[in-house]
Amino acid sequence: MYKAPRGTQDILPPDQPHWQWIRGWIQELCPLYGYGRIDKPLFEPTELFTRGVGESTEVVEKQMYTFQDKGGSSLTLLPEATAPVMRTYLEHGMHVLPQPVKLYAVLPIFRHDRPQAGRYRQFSQLNCEAIGEADPAVDAESIALAWRFFHGLGLSQLSLQLNSIGDATCRPGYLEALVAHYRANEDEICDECRERMVKNPMRLLDCKRRRCQPVIDGSPKSAELLCGPCDEHFQELRRHLDRLGLNYHLNHRLARGLDYYTRTVFEIWAPGIGAQSALLGGGRYDGLAEVLGGQPTPGVGFAAGLERTVLALKTQEAEPPASSPSGAYLAYLGDDEKAEAFSLAERLREAGIPALLGFGNRSLKAQMREADRSGAAHALIVGSRERESGMVTVRDLATGAEVPVPQEEVVRWLRERASALAS
Ligand code: HAM
Repeated sequence: MYKAPRGTQDILPPDQPHWQWIRGWIQELCPLYGYGRIDKPLFEPTELFTRGVGESTEVVEKQMYTFQDKGGSSLTLLPEATAPVMRTYLEHGMHVLPQPVKLYAVLPIFRHDRPQAGRYRQFSQLNCEAIGEADPAVDAESIALAWRFFHGLGLSQLSLQLNSIGDATCRPGYLEALVAHYRANEDEICDECRERMVKNPMRLLDCKRRRCQPVIDGSPKSAELLCGPCDEHFQELRRHLDRLGLNYHLNHRLARGLDYYTRTVFEIWAPGIGAQSALLGGGRYDGLAEVLGGQPTPGVGFAAGLERTVLALKTQEAEPPASSPSGAYLAYLGDDEKAEAFSLAERLREAGIPALLGFGNRSLKAQMREADRSGAAHALIVGSRERESGMVTVRDLATGAEVPVPQEEVVRWLRERASALAS
């Protein structure tokens, strides 16, 4: 028996209401903030990620699905979408548009990580990126959108984690202080962190090993070592958040695991969904465009994990708006009636009414059992009497009440019934 590859999942019809709800909300919400939808390829040149995300990040070093295509190019399934969205912006000359250009996309993301609850090898992200404007008000707007995304779905008790990790001016000083702290504690840290100290000290804060946690906790705080402009940016962002009444927790350990971040970084956490509690992560990436060969272009954005959002919705018992039974199940007695039921089903679909037909020449009783389980509001029964008189028996599957309706009238009858129920 074949099984879904480890860390992937089938999303079956009963789970779809949660997903449709989320996707519908995304389409409603993002335009409210001026975000336009883009769709993107699911693979990109590997170099986009090694350069854009950083060689010594865990995502690039350990988690990418990289392959060589038949032309010998090295390609990688999206392990994240910010570098690819920046590639889109640069390739399509979007700097000539009014700035910032705000783009959103729902994309499958691939990471070869150890699967567990809330952590998959293929998962979906909502990515929202605002590119071309350095104003801290854009950071605040991005965070407000992120927050509203979850609140609009009815999630509560979320926590917003915030930090600033500076820029090319102040980061070196911070990293020097960080490395000095690690040197002083070299006996307490893991071998990988010893390597990180030399290769990419920013990634020291990502270490998950228990022995390194006290050293991380005692580390110097980037937000306290910012240069003047970064500090002003951070203060202004915080004033905006305060004015919006968005409470945040200043988290000095938040460094976000990807190399392109500058200044603002943030995450939104949900309680009670297990170890993988980050529903969303984001931040500013003012240096990314240049790393990818473009003109200096600021940007800020986030990605929300949709599987984790579904987990949080289920944990908090936030249910999608209930859909009431709709449409018709067509049941019939013999072959002639089946042919008639078949055409009637097509007529209903043409009129936009969902219609199901019993297959396999089952008994009428068996068909009625199926009708009850089908989610249809009505069964339309075609027996020999109905066929001869051009009628159909309409059975209300909730109450069991039956009425004869002329076949010619049945579309109108079902429509009137549906609008009476809706009002
Ligand atoms: P990230 O923090 O790596 O950021 O991922 C964002 C979100 O994707 C996480 O908060 C989580 O909800 C979800 N996620 C990550 N890994 C997994 C996994 N293995 N299984 C299930 N869900 C997962 C980024 O990807 C950045 N590109 C976000 C960004 C956009 N920054 C600026 N703009």
